[in-house]
Amino acid sequence: MVSSDMGKLMHCLQYDSYGGGSASLKHVQVRLPTPKKNEVLLKLEATTINPIDWKIQKGLLRAIFLPRHFPHIPCTDVAGEIVEVGPQVKKFEVGDKVLAKLTHQYGGGLAEFAVASESLTVARPNEVSAAEAAALPIAALTAHDALTEIAGVKLDGTGQPKNILITAASGGVGHYAVQLAKLGNTHVTATCGARNIDFVKGLGADEVLDYRTPEGAALRSPSGRKYDAVIHCTTGIPWSTFDSNLTENGKVVDLTPDLSSLTTFALKKLTFSKKQLVPYIVSVKSEGLEYLVQLVKNGKLKTVMDSKFSLRKAEDAWAKSIDGHATGKIIVEP
Ligand SMILES: NC(=O)c1ccc[n+]([C@@H]2O[C@H](COP(=O)([O-])OP(=O)(O)OC[C@H]3O[C@@H](n4cnc5c(N)ncnc54)[C@H](OP(=O)(O)O)[C@@H]3O)[C@@H](O)[C@H]2O)c1
Repeated sequence: MVSSDMGKLMHCLQYDSYGGGSASLKHVQVRLPTPKKNEVLLKLEATTINPIDWKIQKGLLRAIFLPRHFPHIPCTDVAGEIVEVGPQVKKFEVGDKVLAKLTHQYGGGLAEFAVASESLTVARPNEVSAAEAAALPIAALTAHDALTEIAGVKLDGTGQPKNILITAASGGVGHYAVQLAKLGNTHVTATCGARNIDFVKGLGADEVLDYRTPEGAALRSPSGRKYDAVIHCTTGIPWSTFDSNLTENGKVVDLTPDLSSLTTFALKKLTFSKKQLVPYIVSVKSEGLEYLVQLVKNGKLKTVMDSKFSLRKAEDAWAKSIDGHATGKIIVEP
């Protein structure tokens, strides 16, 4: 970036306090952020919204001091072009196309420019669009890590055969989870709404249940399988429903842990139960992002976009995410 751009203003959306949903997002002009020694400044080309972004706005993570301060520019998963590098940045130079995961503490994604740490910035190959790349960090890495680290699926197909259930398979995390699970030696059962059954089958699921039917609500595999692992991408399903559908050592990876699931987790541990509920929160690392972006480049993983919004209409994207009925990922483009 040329130094004459320093001190320039950029357009962004921010909120001043907890609560208020999309109506509290304000369009403002602020100074461009300045990269610290290990950071890069990105001219953003795409940002995705994850449920965690509006959960932070709701104040659900205020106990862990999120966001760090107000006003807050939300969103963390971005792609763009590097326009300035901090003095200690080694891997990147001005002009590189990248994707990055910003911090939840400071956010910054709903803006024209954002700073990202070098350690959570990854090169974006030409074959992968900015929108496809921005969608990856939290959603795809959660699916990847839950499948490989907890469910024990080997994505090179060499592992033991496993039966996997993926709930909310039409959503941001779920649509990646189905595709990634099918890279392994798995049989995938998935749940989604009736309108998305063909979509989820198209992602590779072997059998699909409509979650609004009795069979779907019971999570019962149409082929009578018991699940070795459940990648649980929705909420409101009691342990008793999972219990009867799990193999002897079956695990439920709960991506939205609440008090009830934490209680079940503790109870299962205390009683040495072979069936387990595992509360899981992703930790984004650049190696994971590099692996995922290569999968997209090589045509083994795709980002399905529910919708795209301009930054001028980002509050509509925010409202759509809160509504909870996206098919794939919601993208905002400056
Ligand atoms: N622990 C972590 O590290 C981590 C990381 C990422 C996400 N998460 C959490 O995981 C959850 C999912 O995230 P996401 O980004 O995938 O959300 P999302 O994209 O907003 O999910 C929306 C999708 O879920 C479907 N759905 C809703 N209720 C359902 C149900 N009972 N059964 C089956 N499908 C259902 C919807 O289908 P219809 O439109 O047909 O209703 C829609 O397609 C969120 O709670 C998020 O906070 C956790």
